[in-house]
Amino acid sequence: MKRTLSILLVLSMVFSVFVAAGCAADKNASADKTEIVLQIGSPVMTVNGAEQKIDEEGTVPVIVNERTLVPIRAIIEAMGGTVGWDGEKREVSLDYNGDNIRLVIDSTTAYFNGKASELDTAPAIINERTMLPIRFIAESFGFDVAWDGDTQKITITKTAEAAAATPEAATAEPAATEEPAADTAEAASSKTLVVYFSCTNNTKKLAEKVAAAAEGDLVQLVPAQEYTAEDIDYNSDCRANREQNDATARPEIKNVIENFSDYDTVMICHPIWWGTIPRIIYTFMDSYDLSDKDVYMFCTSGSSGISQAMSDVKKYAPEAKVIDGMRGTGSTTEGQLKDWLKGNGYGK
Ligand SMILES: Cc1cc2nc3c(=O)[nH]c(=O)nc-3n(C[C@H](O)[C@H](O)[C@H](O)COP(=O)(O)O)c2cc1C
Repeated sequence: MKRTLSILLVLSMVFSVFVAAGCAADKNASADKTEIVLQIGSPVMTVNGAEQKIDEEGTVPVIVNERTLVPIRAIIEAMGGTVGWDGEKREVSLDYNGDNIRLVIDSTTAYFNGKASELDTAPAIINERTMLPIRFIAESFGFDVAWDGDTQKITITKTAEAAAATPEAATAEPAATEEPAADTAEAASSKTLVVYFSCTNNTKKLAEKVAAAAEGDLVQLVPAQEYTAEDIDYNSDCRANREQNDATARPEIKNVIENFSDYDTVMICHPIWWGTIPRIIYTFMDSYDLSDKDVYMFCTSGSSGISQAMSDVKKYAPEAKVIDGMRGTGSTTEGQLKDWLKGNGYGK
């Protein structure tokens, strides 16, 4: 009972802060970029470079089952969202930019806009603070999350362009713009290649739409040894898991991409395997020179975002200009992809 009362007290404080949080939210929303940096064990976070305490009690982010749990109040506030609490159901409700996440304490089932997905780590109450899995929350709300194991830092970012590229914004009528003649000429002569790797066709379908939206050439990365259903049964000791666990694994690609050097822009479409790119994408990066190419990345996944995949490609191909990445789903449309590309500096 005492514990329940403490939780309610904490959450009522959370509420009052959120009511007053409009100013902070507006301020962050108007910035070009929102960047929140947290560190495991540190009670201080930075929001767009400015240090602030996570809360008055000195609560720190912790790792449980390899997932980072954080006291969510200050972070959602910095993102520009709101939080609600249903004490009877022990349910936290987070709202941001028209999207809603519901999480239940000690349950690994989370709901994004009513759709259930499974978490590795359940939200928990630790030292009377509600601690929530930050990656799931931030990525569901369209933020990128990067983890630096050396410094134990989590960086959560969203650019104004990325915010503008949410599906809600993408369906809005684009403003009429007049392209400068020089840009148009450059766009017409530049060539785009869309490559994809796909075992169960989710990424293939997305890649086809990406190629149509980008007016690019589409090429499949065909594994020399096809992946069977057994090979990708990730709940077992399957081939895909073994490859992901082996930093040196480079599954062979059967086909060769002709005239790769003719392309200025390369779009890499891939499924997320264990939070990042499958090893065959490393084979692709070993086989073709990405230096000076504009690189866009597109993924499909159960729920994970693309941020780790992007940072792994940036690390492996530092000469490439990795511009941005997007997680698509079965319902992503060619129009949304076109708007997203336009919002991310793609010239065609
Ligand atoms: C080995 C393996 C690992 C996976 N790891 C993740 C993961 O970490 N996060 C996630 O959201 N989905 C994960 N998935 C699900 C796939 O990303 C998802 O089903 C994807 O859409 C499959 O794309 P495809 O149909 O193009 O092969 C994994 C799938 C496999 C086979």
